[in-house]
Formats: sequence, structure tokens, C-alpha cells
Amino acid sequence: MLELKGKTAIVTGAASGIGRGIAKALAGAGMNLVLADLRPGPLAAARRDIEALGAQAIDVTVDVSDAASVAAAGRAAERAFGRLHVVVNNAGVAMHGTRVEDVGHDEWNWVMGVNVLGAINGIRHGEGGHVVNTASISGFFIRGGRNQGAYSMTKCAVVALSKALEQEVEDAGIGVSVLCPGAVETHIFESAATRPERFGGPYARPQQEAMHVAGRGLAPELVGQRVLQAIRQREFYVLTHAGERAAIKARHERIEAAFDRAATWEKAR
Ligand SMILES: NC(=O)c1ccc[n+]([C@@H]2O[C@H](COP(=O)([O-])OP(=O)(O)OC[C@H]3O[C@@H](n4cnc5c(N)ncnc54)[C@H](O)[C@@H]3O)[C@@H](O)[C@H]2O)c1
Repeated sequence: MLELKGKTAIVTGAASGIGRGIAKALAGAGMNLVLADLRPGPLAAARRDIEALGAQAIDVTVDVSDAASVAAAGRAAERAFGRLHVVVNNAGVAMHGTRVEDVGHDEWNWVMGVNVLGAINGIRHGEGGHVVNTASISGFFIRGGRNQGAYSMTKCAVVALSKALEQEVEDAGIGVSVLCPGAVETHIFESAATRPERFGGPYARPQQEAMHVAGRGLAPELVGQRVLQAIRQREFYVLTHAGERAAIKARHERIEAAFDRAATWEKAR
């Protein structure tokens, strides 16, 4: 089991929601925390929360979609605590409520930039240890009726990136987890309000915000505890909502049926 006490973790998207929940759980396990996020005010508040748990922490403002910004955050982390042992690439934004053909170019660049390039930029191994990438249950199937194709596409990419990384680093003794939660009670449906200027700046996405149903999601602290368990047990797929199994099974059955048709076609050739 990976020894976490006295080691260092970096968590992106740590100012809110799941990132904040994961940071709390890792602090509770005795880790030093580098908290990274786009929004300095909420980030400083998250740092104070973590320090109140008795952990050492710094906060670093970062835009994960910008490789230079992520590299600078990594240098700040190493100046404060030395090498990193656990890397949590968690920052992400929503793009729900818009059909893929209606998603604008700035929106594609933003959602791909944060959710996909953000995870790519964050991959670093430090002294070895563990990498956690936050995808979503939407990384396994496209939920019908919610027009969330652009978001799901980015999360499918994070699942694939994580699988490839696992294959490449396992000989070096580095663990990889891909976190795939269902609904969690966070501020993700407000993410357009802080879209960076280079992607077009803040804007309103009322169709997305309307999907936020307060009180229906899992508490982020519970997700944090689940991630801590997964790091300790070296789990690759980390799920939090067992009830989503049917949708994923239905997708697999459709793929199986396609194999049956391919087999019939091969025989007839
Ligand atoms: N909330 C859910 O139901 C749910 C379900 C599955 C997966 N997820 C994923 O969990 C992750 C965390 O989301 P959350 O639900 O906690 O949302 P959240 O909005 O509460 O937290 C996300 C944090 O990421 C930060 N962020 C956004 N863009 C950034 C950027 N360019 N650079 C650095 N930080 C940036 C935000 O400032 C925010 O503090 C995301 O990857 C999301 O896709 C969420």
C-alpha cells in the first residue's frame, strides 16, 4: 500500500467541489497539499480549510488548459515541498444542454482545453506514486436527452488517456486511477461564469444551469474518501454510483451485437 503520510499531492480544481473534497481526504491522510485552481479567492478559502485540518498547504493560481501555467504551478509546488507523489488532474468544466452541432468554436476550444489538455498538461510523476484523472461516468456512455455530447467526448478522452498512461508507467511502479463519478453536488453548472478571456470570457449558459438540481448529488467529501481508498488500493476504474451499471451494460451489448454481425459477415465473405 502506498505510504501517503508526509508526502505531497497536487490537486487541480481544488477551490470547489470534488477537487476540494479530494484535497480534504488527502490532508486527512497526512499529506502536504498543493491546491491549484483558476479562482484565487475560493482557492485561498480552500487552503484555510485544509490548514485547519492540520495539514501543510499552499495555493497556486493556474489555468490547466495552459501548459506554461501548469509548468509554473509544478515549479511552485517543488519549491514548497520538493517532489510530488500524488497528482490529481481534476479541474473540469461542463458543456451540457447544447447539441454538438450547436456548440460554438470558442466553447469547443474551452471544454477540450480544460477537460482534455488540462489532464494532459497535468501528467507528471514526481518521485513516483499515483496519478488520478477525473473523468466522469459520462466517459463510458453518452447520456440521452441531456445534449451533453461535447462534455462526454472530453471525458471519453480522459478515460483513454488514463488507460494509456497506466500501461506506460506500470513498470515504473506508478499507479493510475480514473475517477468516473455520477452526479455530485458541486458548482460545475456555473463554470461558464469563469471562462478565461482567451476562450471568449465569462458568459451565461442558462440551458446548462437549469440542469442543476440542488440536493440530488453525492457530497464531494464522500467522493474524496472514495478516491483516497482507490489510491491506497491501486484501483484503476473508480466509480461512485453503482446504479449506472445498466446504461454501460446496454452500450456493451450493442457492441457485442456488432461483433455478431461482423462474425456473420466474415463467414459469408
Ligand atoms: N459534479 C458532478 O456531478 C461531476 C460528475 C462527474 C465528473 N465530474 C468532474 O469532476 C471534476 C470537478 O468538477 P466539480 O463537479 O467539482 O465542479 P466545480 O465547478 O465545483 O469545481 C471545478 C473547479 O475547477 C476549476 N477550474 C475550472 N476551469 C479551470 C481551469 N481552466 N484551470 C484551473 N481550474 C479550473 C473551477 O474554478 C472550480 O473550482 C470535473 O472534471 C468534472 O467534469 C463532476
